[in-house]
Amino acid sequence: MSVAERTQVVIIGAGPAGLLLGRLLDLAGVDNIVLERRSQAYVLSRIRAGILEQTTVDLVRKAKASERLDLEGVPHHALQLVYKGQITSVHLPEFTDGKIVTAYGQTELTKDLCSVRDRSGANTVYEVENVELHDYDRSKPYVTFEQGGVTHRIECELIAGCDGYHGPSRASVPKSAIKTYSKTYPFGWLGLLSDTPPVSDEVVYASTPRGFALCSMRSRTRSRYYIQCSLDDKVENWSDEAFWTELKKRLPPVLSDNLVTGESLEKSIAPLRSFVAEPMRFGRLLLAGDAAHVVPPTGAKGLNLAASDIHYLHEAIIVYFSENDDLALDEYSRKALSRVWKSERFSWYLTNLTHQFSDDPFEQKMKEAELEYITTSEAGRRMIAENYVGLPV
Ligand code: APR
Ligand code: PHB
Repeated sequence: MSVAERTQVVIIGAGPAGLLLGRLLDLAGVDNIVLERRSQAYVLSRIRAGILEQTTVDLVRKAKASERLDLEGVPHHALQLVYKGQITSVHLPEFTDGKIVTAYGQTELTKDLCSVRDRSGANTVYEVENVELHDYDRSKPYVTFEQGGVTHRIECELIAGCDGYHGPSRASVPKSAIKTYSKTYPFGWLGLLSDTPPVSDEVVYASTPRGFALCSMRSRTRSRYYIQCSLDDKVENWSDEAFWTELKKRLPPVLSDNLVTGESLEKSIAPLRSFVAEPMRFGRLLLAGDAAHVVPPTGAKGLNLAASDIHYLHEAIIVYFSENDDLALDEYSRKALSRVWKSERFSWYLTNLTHQFSDDPFEQKMKEAELEYITTSEAGRRMIAENYVGLPV
């Protein structure tokens, strides 16, 4: 059996990129269908980062999905860099014309976007299998998928590939049409989530000889901590107690003495990777978010980059439909990539600066000199602040 449908834009993936795009297009009257491989419950249970740039908050407001974010988001006016046991506070508004960031979990944001989409009656199809993209290099693209033994075909004008790093959208592009750039790092992050008050009001990035550590939060009562670990480490090797003991060793006494520990709600290990695919447009297929680029989590740029892609993409799609302007789609790729590369640079830089590598001694000395420069120079702190709050879109 097979079922045929029609829409203006098929969006593959119900992560933050796909849901945000779907919502903004709905509000502009552009018909769309979101296809998601997982169940809604699965999508809403994924634990991800949680620092939002102002442009991300603005876009969520434009999507009319910010009610809870506006109430519960925790404003952050600084980030703290720890080096040689000294804490340097980088005060964000001082260097950025008043800009700050907001702590709000990606999981919560996804929940809010799902809920406004469900309430609006827009079509999201969960638990789809074998999604395939067809003819996006021609004028009549379509997407096929299976669900419960039935093959579906959706005809459309555009396909938005918002299906993450492993999704079918980028994979469907012929190798000769795409150029990719990537870097893997020789370590991972072990993360722990707990219902304990955060050790600091601001996010702490600690560079220590034992490895990097990060202290973050989801709310005033829920904390998120990470420690740099070896790539072949296993979560099972880390009891909660072992995690807390190691984290304390990587923090200066003023923080470790005040660290409230507790049972973990979640613990996981993630590898660190930088990746960019160019271009982000292939005829009537547009890539956005992790489908097109990945950053290491240092600096919390992943979700924010997905949001800035969607900022450019929803505008381009609206112009495309209202003015029949194909150039707007090419402009999307150019504008998005220009910002992507700058965020890639910052995430790579902050990762290199703060993590332990088994570098040659000269490289190690260079990093120490850079850390000393950053923490003692106003220009150095300004560079960190400007990038951390997010470059202009
Ligand atoms: N068919 C349909 N959906 C798919 C398929 C497929 N074959 N493959 C993947 N997906 C879905 C995934 O299940 C996921 O829900 O695409 C979605 C992609 O979402 P994310 O991975 O969250 O990517 P994105 O929306 O670009 O958000 C980027 O989220 O992943 C984090 O670190 C990332 O913070 C960054 C942000
Ligand atoms: C997080 O809160 O999970 C987080 C914060 C800052 C980062 C990375 C992750 O740089």
